[in-house]
Amino acid sequence: MALLETKKLGINFDGLVALEDVDFAAEEGKITAVIGPNGAGKTTFFNLVAGFYTPTEGSVHFGGKDITRLKAYQRAEIGIARTFQNINLFKDMSVMDNALVGLHSRAKSNVVSSMLRTPAQRREEKALREEVMSYLEFMGLADCAQEKAGSLSYGMQKNLEIVRALALRPKVLLLDEPASGLNTQDLDELSGRITNIRDRGITVVLIEHKMDVVMSISDRIAVLNVGRKIADGTPEEVRSSREVIEAYLGKEDE
Ligand SMILES: Nc1ncnc2c1ncn2[C@@H]1O[C@H](COP(=O)(O)OP(=O)(O)OP(=O)(O)O)[C@@H](O)[C@H]1O
Ligand SMILES: [Mg+2]
Repeated sequence: MALLETKKLGINFDGLVALEDVDFAAEEGKITAVIGPNGAGKTTFFNLVAGFYTPTEGSVHFGGKDITRLKAYQRAEIGIARTFQNINLFKDMSVMDNALVGLHSRAKSNVVSSMLRTPAQRREEKALREEVMSYLEFMGLADCAQEKAGSLSYGMQKNLEIVRALALRPKVLLLDEPASGLNTQDLDELSGRITNIRDRGITVVLIEHKMDVVMSISDRIAVLNVGRKIADGTPEEVRSSREVIEAYLGKEDE
């Protein structure tokens, strides 16, 4: 069953068509990759799915419901979490606090700033911190929980974005180029972690340029080029698609 779907989704910015006519489906419990050359519209697609942009045409569906009119925070509340291609952390705040920031919607009390806490609130905060710590451990960040986020390497900051998204206990996780800035060894580790997230039942949608990662862990792949979906299928199908090869390598007669 498709957990997340878009139908004829499109947006233009002052006449520039950034995305057009995109039918997309992410099956529940699977990893679906969204690939395509620079400027293809991949991040724009995430911004539409997560509610950061309003589409000019088409619709977004989640669990069979039309969510096109929901705001970004409402989509986060129903289980859509994302990371950002351009890292979006509070660099002067600790790694732990960055991961807690997204949790206002889950916590009954304001975890980060409440001054007068009741015992119940303290218990709630402790449980949340322990849960976040388990995600930090999972992403290899437990040892730097108290360090400033800005002091982490680029690759580790990308991992912290994943922690922050996991802390929302999402049903679907949108990852925008999680492998950028990672070395070869870290890439294998990341692939293992994303697979593990899927195996815990979280549906993953993955934008990524690193084709080893995409081809080895994706169940399905959708390919965008200049704002349109030009192919989708299994990694094998997409890899052998003439249109996809041309989009990446250019047509021979050009
Ligand atoms: N807020 C915006 N205003 C105007 N144009 C935009 C906006 N967001 C995206 N675009 C345009 O939409 C097109 C698609 O951009 P997008 O960032 O989605 O590409 P992408 O596939 O994520 O590329 P990359 O692989 O380089 O990250 C580009 O032409 C971009 O300039
Ligand atoms: Mg992008």
